This record gives sequence, C-alpha cells and structure tokens, in this order.
Amino acid sequence: MAYTPQLQELMKKVEASRASRVGVDYPRMTPEERREVLQNFHPDYIEDGFRNIEVGVDKGIRMPSEMADVFESYSRLREVELDLTTDPDYDVDVLIIGGGGAGASAALKAHETGAKILLATKLRFGDANTMMAQGGIQAADKENDSPTIHYLDLLGGGRLENVPELARALVMDAPLVIKWLEKLGTMFDKNEEGTMITSHGGGTSRKRMHAARDYTGAEIMRTLRDEVHNRGINLIEFSPAVEILLDKDGRAGGAVLYNLETEHYLIARAKTVIIATGGSGRLHYRGFPTSNHHGATADGLIMGYRAGAKTLYTDSIQYHPTGGAFPPQLLGLLVTEKTRGLGAQPLNINGDQFVYHLETRDVESSAIIRECEERGLGVPLPTGLTAVWLDSPMIDMIHGEGTIERQLPAMLRQFQRFDVDIRKEPMLIYPTLHYQNGGLLIDDQARTSVENLYVAGEAAGGIHGTNRLMGNSLLDILVFGRRAGTSAAARSKDLPAPEGLNLDHVSSYHRELEEAGVGDGRIGPVLLPHYTHR
Ligand code: FUM
Repeated sequence: MAYTPQLQELMKKVEASRASRVGVDYPRMTPEERREVLQNFHPDYIEDGFRNIEVGVDKGIRMPSEMADVFESYSRLREVELDLTTDPDYDVDVLIIGGGGAGASAALKAHETGAKILLATKLRFGDANTMMAQGGIQAADKENDSPTIHYLDLLGGGRLENVPELARALVMDAPLVIKWLEKLGTMFDKNEEGTMITSHGGGTSRKRMHAARDYTGAEIMRTLRDEVHNRGINLIEFSPAVEILLDKDGRAGGAVLYNLETEHYLIARAKTVIIATGGSGRLHYRGFPTSNHHGATADGLIMGYRAGAKTLYTDSIQYHPTGGAFPPQLLGLLVTEKTRGLGAQPLNINGDQFVYHLETRDVESSAIIRECEERGLGVPLPTGLTAVWLDSPMIDMIHGEGTIERQLPAMLRQFQRFDVDIRKEPMLIYPTLHYQNGGLLIDDQARTSVENLYVAGEAAGGIHGTNRLMGNSLLDILVFGRRAGTSAAARSKDLPAPEGLNLDHVSSYHRELEEAGVGDGRIGPVLLPHYTHR
C-alpha cells in the first residue's frame, strides 16, 4: 500500500460514493461550458509561456517558448567542417528519419516498390511514442459505423480545425490499415466468435477503438519491427539526423546523420527524405511532466523548418487528462484513456464526480485543472502536487471481476510495482503533456512545401485540428507512414541522384538569427532532454 494514511483516509470518501455512481452518467458539458473551461483553464489559452518566432518561412508564428527556443537555435553543424562533394556514406532512394510506427510503415511500403531505403533512428529501432501508446487505434469497420461518422467525430474533436484532405485520408485508410496490421500479425483483442472487440474513447460516437489489451502500440510496433527485420531493410540505430541536405535546386537531397556512439557525422544522400521523428513532449512545455518517449525533442520540426518546410498549429499541445500523479515514480506516465472508456470516473477530494468521464481530452484536462486550481477540490499529495482520483475499482463492478486484469494488464502491473492495487484502490491522476497537435504542414501524400521532403506521424500537423482524439495517433502514423513510403518511393523512380548537396539554407537561417538577435548559445535539434546523462 503506497498511499499514505492521509490519502487512505481521503480514499474512504471515494469508496463511500462508489455504489451510487455506478451506472449513472454525469451530464456532458454544453458547447458553451466547453468553450468556457477551455478558455480559462487549458494551458494553450494561457498567453505567457508562448511567443512568436522571429525567423524562418513562417516567421511570426506562435508556439510554446520551449519550442521557440528550439526553432530559434543554431545548427549543431555550425562549427563543423563537412565535405559534401565526396562520395556520401549512404546513397539511397528513400531516407527515412525515425524508427517509430510512422518510419517503420513508410519503410515497409517503400520497400514493396523495390526502392533502396535507409532508415536511421536516434535510439534503438522502435524506441518511440508508438511503443508507449496504450488504449487503441480507431477504424470504422463495424456495421453501425462508417468513415463518414469517423470523420465527423474527428472534426468534432479537432474543433473543426482539421485540414479536410488529411482528415479524409485518415478515416478512409483506417479499415485498410487494420487489415494490413492483422495480415502482418498484430494480435488485436477479439471475442469468442473471432470478431474484433471495439470500445469508445473520449469524443467517439461509435465503438471503433481496436486494441491489444492496454499495450496496443507495443503490439503494433512489435509487428512492424519484425517485418522490417524480416525483409532485411537497411537500418542504422543511434544515428539521429541533425540537418536536412538540399540539392542545387533547393530540393531535399538527404541528411547529415550523427553517430551518437562514435560522435562522427555521416552523409546520407537520398532522392527523397521522410521525416518521421515524432513529437516533442520532452521539451516539457510549461514545466509539465510528459507521457512521451525520451527522444521526443522536436528534431524533425526544426530540421524541416530550417530546410524551408511550412508549419501548422505549432501552438496547439495536447495534455492527456490522466497522467500518473502518485506514487511519484509514475509522475506524468500515461494512464490510458481506456480506463475511462471502461467506466472509471474522475473524482475530487470529496469523492464527487465533477466532469463527464469521456469528454474530449482538451475539455477533460481543463476540467481537472479547474477542479484543482480554481475550486481547490484536488487531492493534496505528499509531493506537494495536487491530483484527482480516477476510480478504477468501478471497472470490475461494472463489467465483472477480472476485467481490469484482462483489459488493463499493463496498467495493473505498472501500479502494482509501487504497491497500488488499482482493482481495489483508485488512481491519482493529473493532466500530462502527451501530444503535439501541430507540426510540419503536409498534403494527403505526406508531401511538405519543400520538394522531395515528406513527413509522417506526430511531426506532421493538421490532421487532428487542435485536439486529437484517442486512437487517432496510432492510426495517423500508419496511414501517413504508408502514404509517405509509397509516394516518396514512386517519386524517387523519376529522379536522378541529387547533385550539389549543400547546407546553404542553414547558413541563411543563421544569418536570420543573427539579424534578429535571437538564439545565441542555443543548439538544435537538442536530440535528448537536458537531464539526460551523456
Ligand atoms: O490513453 C491512451 O491510451 C492514449 C492513446 C492515444 O493517445 O491515442
């Protein structure tokens, strides 16, 4: 039992109200109530902590200061002499930067065309946010559902700010992606008849979340990684890209890689380049803890931006409502939305529910912040932080004993390691930095505004508008990873090897930084969070 005597005392209020809450739905917010809670409590609406950057193609755009620090930074290559005229270390058709789900699926689709590929990863292949995704992947493949209904949910969740062609691609490819994954060997949860078990997430009007228990991302990544290995696709680990190379005509023509072990720079020449570097939670916007992977440091955003790629919604960040708050070892780690999908309710210090348990993430998070900050009804923790309860024991009451063990085995084990039994004791949670809604602007073939440069996965922006729904990220990395792989490989067929590789765009970016008087002393991409032991 990790909970202190004070927390155990407070927990009694949760236990006391539990029976009366089972089967009773808390009222959903009206559109006006949603707007109000967002404007007053969502971190994206709190002006300090944001700034407009002073350099680059989208000079003037707003973003969190921590992201702006990365955008207004000098290249790691500023003091490095590179000879770009000699034979490159790698010479390929398609260079894929990033080894999560987007990079892996791009590699598989490009490989099918016979293209010569190199996949370069910063850490180990598969060390990525994909691996840490838990609750599921959306796809409208049941009789009572359709891509059109999925599209409406997607736009509702995204505050109608989604780029329509990207949203369309996402929902239309979703059923195909599930079939593809099954064929590759992903073990989705099924009932006794062999049909997929699907459930709700926040903001879904149909049960379309396909899951592998509560380790869906790990199961998907396992499948993709095996397949990449089985096909013998060329990959190098511990070798992040640090700069995109352009050719003499200003088109993407490769990248400079940095071997983290030997500390040597390597030149990869490529006819097309796919950025699949993921998100940026490790920049810890506004000091929030994060559910993100250690390597999530916005590398692709700054490399693509320096090369001239345009961006979208860089000021839109997703705070997942249920990050672990206590025990302290779990701070910021994801407590899957599936926990609420199965009926667990958020409760304040009095054991009272204060928000419908499946509002969209932006609204749910804002309501939790309000309960703690404005109403003073959060649970004070021994760490000095404040949290709310998430009443997990209700799940077994609603669905029958053994449900948590079957449906949330990873979550059960994660809390058991610190002596909390979520079958009997509620969890303590608070919003955690989870996802970057914005990123580099792409079209429905994953092309950026720079010729021959593609982006897939969390580094791309616009698909989810300004708030993503659960299960649409595992989907997006696969939909746009596959599309990027296919279109980059097809494009490579028409191209000669790039000539006149250069970093002139980096030099001009440096000049802009100097003229604007910003960024001195900062180097980007940062590659690893500042607290990493090097
Ligand atoms: O809560 C979750 O399981 C997270 C899923 C997602 O971000 O899509």
